[in-house]
Amino acid sequence: MSKRRPSSGRWLQEHHEDPYVLRARREGYRSRAAYKLLEIDAELQQKSGKKSGLLRPGMTVVDLGAAPGGWSQVAVKLVGKTGRIIAVDLLAMEPIVGGVVFQGDFLDDAVLDQVVQALAPKGRADLVLSDMAPNMSGFKNADMARGELLAEAAFAFIEQVLEPGGATVIKLFQGTGFHEMVKQARTLFDRVKVVKPNASRARSSEHYLLGLGYKGQET
Ligand SMILES: C[S@@+](CC[C@H](N)C(=O)[O-])C[C@H]1O[C@@H](n2cnc3c(N)ncnc32)[C@H](O)[C@@H]1O
Repeated sequence: MSKRRPSSGRWLQEHHEDPYVLRARREGYRSRAAYKLLEIDAELQQKSGKKSGLLRPGMTVVDLGAAPGGWSQVAVKLVGKTGRIIAVDLLAMEPIVGGVVFQGDFLDDAVLDQVVQALAPKGRADLVLSDMAPNMSGFKNADMARGELLAEAAFAFIEQVLEPGGATVIKLFQGTGFHEMVKQARTLFDRVKVVKPNASRARSSEHYLLGLGYKGQET
């Protein structure tokens, strides 16, 4: 009789056979997550019929929860030499050519200040990305609450630094605060869409909130 495979073994096997993992290895991306952002970008490009999608040359992009760096790699490529990437994560991350990387907790004011200072002299970003996700404890309510806190921090940051007309992509987990956050986003952006890229695992409750045309702060 065959022995039951431990779940971590099953996860490892699934991971090594995952087409996005294999493709990331082949194409030099640090994570399979890169394809989620590429897909969001490509879909927008297709819909607008323009040469570029979400990420355009010359943009200043902040990447929250950036490690190991797949999204930052995509961003660096698409914003080109005239653009800037500022990445932050709790975990150490390999440097990003053409970008600045901070290691620390984004919920910590000192880390937030570092990111804001890196945006000088303009003090503004054209695009705020947040793929931040809590370390899942397995306790659903606690994990949800932590996920919500991270998304709320990303929203607060947007209101602090996003250029009017700017855009955002924020990871949200489907749960209690999900609809409230989508509602909040609709007050901040001209266009809001919730997307689930093909590269996002079907069993994950993650979705991405796409906000386009930031309305800016009323004065
Ligand atoms: C799904 S991974 C991001 C993958 C990344 N977008 C990529 O393309 O490689 C989520 C990341 O969020 C980070 N994270 C979670 N809480 C954070 C916090 N409070 N501050 C900064 N980073 C955080 C985790 O350390 C983890 O690296």
